[in-house]
Amino acid sequence: MSAFHRIAATIFLGVIFSSVSFGKAVDFERQIQPFLEKKCYRCHDEEKVKGELRLDSPEGILAGGEYGDILIPGDPNESSIYLLTTYPKDDPDYMPQKGKGLTKSEQSLLKIWIEEGATFGEGFVHVPEPKVKAKFEEADPSTERNYMITGEAVEIVARLRESGIQVDTVNHDSSLFEVSYTYADRVAGSFDFETLGALKDSLVKLTLARTEVSSEDLSTIAGFARIEFLDLSRTSVGDDALGHVAKLENLKYLNLRDTSVTDEGLKKLAGLKQLEKVYLWGSAVTASGAKRLEKSLSGAEVNVGSELRAPRRAGQRNS
Ligand code: HEC
Repeated sequence: MSAFHRIAATIFLGVIFSSVSFGKAVDFERQIQPFLEKKCYRCHDEEKVKGELRLDSPEGILAGGEYGDILIPGDPNESSIYLLTTYPKDDPDYMPQKGKGLTKSEQSLLKIWIEEGATFGEGFVHVPEPKVKAKFEEADPSTERNYMITGEAVEIVARLRESGIQVDTVNHDSSLFEVSYTYADRVAGSFDFETLGALKDSLVKLTLARTEVSSEDLSTIAGFARIEFLDLSRTSVGDDALGHVAKLENLKYLNLRDTSVTDEGLKKLAGLKQLEKVYLWGSAVTASGAKRLEKSLSGAEVNVGSELRAPRRAGQRNS
């Protein structure tokens, strides 16, 4: 072995030993907490509690978020604190939602830490570092984008927003809209897309994730032909819904994670030639069903995530 190789090997082993430390448990305080602080606290601490989740203390991590537990000791693939960091970066659920993602070695430390039982070390109490706040200040959408909404749309948008529906113009194009029902007030009964219908010729992005939308409700959506992006993840929609979705000729991106769609339903999408990405983790679609759709749509990526399972949600766990 040359001197160079010896040095290279030493460095290589050094990196492995210091990051994964064989035979020694991953140390939360030393190996996990620092990257959580750098990459997650800006949205998950005392000041910003996105997803009703705090990651800046063991208590916060153990308390979980909006959907319940985020950490299942021993089971990284059921722990959204790990799993969401491994999603593709353009997935709407990918964490961190903004800023630098976890490196491969940070991901693997987090995974091993969870596999080993996710202990925090005795008496671990984290004292947060003072932050440079301005640097991380997020743009306020109400001042940033509102001014672009003009004409008839102003009133329609106001009406939608009254029920908690989020409406924004799409980056760089003030005549196109993106709408999310995810945080809207829950109304009993069927979804009312009537008001939204007034925007249908400029609606390109629609998020219905985690709402109570039904397959039937989606028959209205089928007439919103401009939609390019549709997120139906974690809803109860099944194969019936895909008949309606199949009418969205401009659809590029479809998220069906944690729905009950099957290979049979997926066949209905074969005519959507614009489709680029379909996410199916946690659905009943098989790898071969996904492959079949990929074949009929040249260039599309149909993702069933054979290795990754969707995080278990509180609702499912308790039922
Ligand atoms: C720029 C802001 C931002 C950053 C940075 C960020 N998150 Fe989030 N996070 C969010 C938002 C917003 C939600 C709620 C999303 C939703 O409900 O759809 C969320 C939700 C979550 C949830 C789900 C909570 C639940 O109950 O299901 C987990 C887990 C999570 N984040 C982990 C992380 C981790 C780990 C990091 C760092 C690697 C991180 N986040 C960084 C904004 C952020």
